Amino acid sequence: MAENLIIQAGNKEEKYQSLLPQLGALVAGKADPVANLANVAAALKQTFGFFWVGFYLVKEEQLVLGPFQGPVACTRIRYGRGVCGTAWKEKQTLVVPDVDQFSGHIACSSDSKSEIVVPILKEDTIIGVLDVDSDTLNSFNETDALYLQKICELIASFL
Ligand code: SME
Repeated sequence: MAENLIIQAGNKEEKYQSLLPQLGALVAGKADPVANLANVAAALKQTFGFFWVGFYLVKEEQLVLGPFQGPVACTRIRYGRGVCGTAWKEKQTLVVPDVDQFSGHIACSSDSKSEIVVPILKEDTIIGVLDVDSDTLNSFNETDALYLQKICELIASFL
């Protein structure tokens, strides 16, 4: 079956509001987690044109690269390391306006300038993170945090 994504014109919030139910429909009834994560990454990339968007999943006490869209990236991140490992350790969303100001930031690409990492929580345990990178400074704010958290709640429902 063909899958279509309607990209709403308008501001960031309007785009997220239009995207969220479409993601729900896209993953509904499809039991394969990798297929769903891949489509969520693609839909975010298609809607916002992010430089890099993807998932790291907790495996053997590390974050291991999962489905993503964008340039090749580091495959393993340790607990407490980088923005991703810190979001995992602190169990909270991290918005980084300038990656050069984040001590320990892991630069998979020197083109990445700002970043947001949202933990994926299942029954109070972090099972992965959603990582989004931008090639411009200051790309992410509370609106991204709010809607990407909602997207991570959807993801937790099928992981
Ligand atoms: N910058 C991340 C590493 C992952 S890449 O950005 C895709 C970090 O510091 O954890």
